[in-house]
Amino acid sequence: MQTMNLSNGNTIPAVGYGTWQAPDSEITVAGVKAAVSCGYRHIDTAAVYGNEVSVGKGIAACGIPREKLFITSKVWNADRGYDQTLAAFEKTLSDLGLDYLDLYLIHWPATAHRFRNWEEINLATWQAMTELYRAGRIRAIGVSNFRPHHLAALLKTEVIPQVNQIEFHPGLLQPDTVRCCRENGILVEAWSPLGTGRMLSNPVLQEIARHYGKSVAQLCIRWCIQHEALPLPKSVTPARIQENISVFDFEISESDMKSIDLLDNFGGSGLDPDRVPF
Ligand SMILES: NC(=O)c1ccc[n+]([C@@H]2O[C@H](COP(=O)([O-])OP(=O)(O)OC[C@H]3O[C@@H](n4cnc5c(N)ncnc54)[C@H](OP(=O)(O)O)[C@@H]3O)[C@@H](O)[C@H]2O)c1
Repeated sequence: MQTMNLSNGNTIPAVGYGTWQAPDSEITVAGVKAAVSCGYRHIDTAAVYGNEVSVGKGIAACGIPREKLFITSKVWNADRGYDQTLAAFEKTLSDLGLDYLDLYLIHWPATAHRFRNWEEINLATWQAMTELYRAGRIRAIGVSNFRPHHLAALLKTEVIPQVNQIEFHPGLLQPDTVRCCRENGILVEAWSPLGTGRMLSNPVLQEIARHYGKSVAQLCIRWCIQHEALPLPKSVTPARIQENISVFDFEISESDMKSIDLLDNFGGSGLDPDRVPF
């Protein structure tokens, strides 16, 4: 598994196994075990997915030592703030059955449409994350769904985010956010690299994928990697889990990258961090 670099000197496996909408059941335990046996070493979960117990069981049963795995979770919106974040972190660790996390993210920013003191709330959450990071309980800290105006206050703190996990797939490149991350050494992670499946029936992507003898899913995952946006494909289907990591044996040409970049937004989630009702 190739890796990407974090600004604190740590490395992160270049494809992560996504778990949103994976149920808290044997399906997810089996999915995590299948992913690790295919070669994934990076697993992305979140408290709000409600599946950390099953993800943890999969990690415990996968047969790979903990220190060879990279595990990410996220603090949910209901737990923003200093004390709540510290408590949410302990619950996540306990549900996962782990004693440290490799990466912990603020899942969504507090924003002006819901909170007058939204910046203060984000800073209080960040303060708790920074202390956990300094205490060695988290190896890297970051955010998710933060646009440049949400990042601004955090960029003035002593430990700035090392990751920003954003929606990123053909048709949705979020150039302003990506530029701001690059300028500040923040690694971009790509959520919904397959548009939760909506990319797969696009005729332009199908035509380009055929040219490489690859699936549209593999094309989208590879396209993220070539944009240096770390993809987090989700599947609970063993053949797809394997397919989604088999993306290191081809390279998309510059002109095909351009054609994909030029696609209109045809499969976005429509979730705007400044407008989401949660
Ligand atoms: N930070 C955030 O706010 C946020 C938001 C959304 C997602 N995420 C993260 O990003 C991850 C990925 O996003 P996502 O869950 O929206 O989905 P995705 O990876 O874009 O797509 C997953 C969907 O595509 C199907 N699929 C996967 N591989 C396939 C393949 N090779 N061929 C055909 N179908 C395939 C899956 O079905 P099966 O599972 O049935 O095989 C599932 O329905 C999440 O799991 C989560 O970890 C983060």
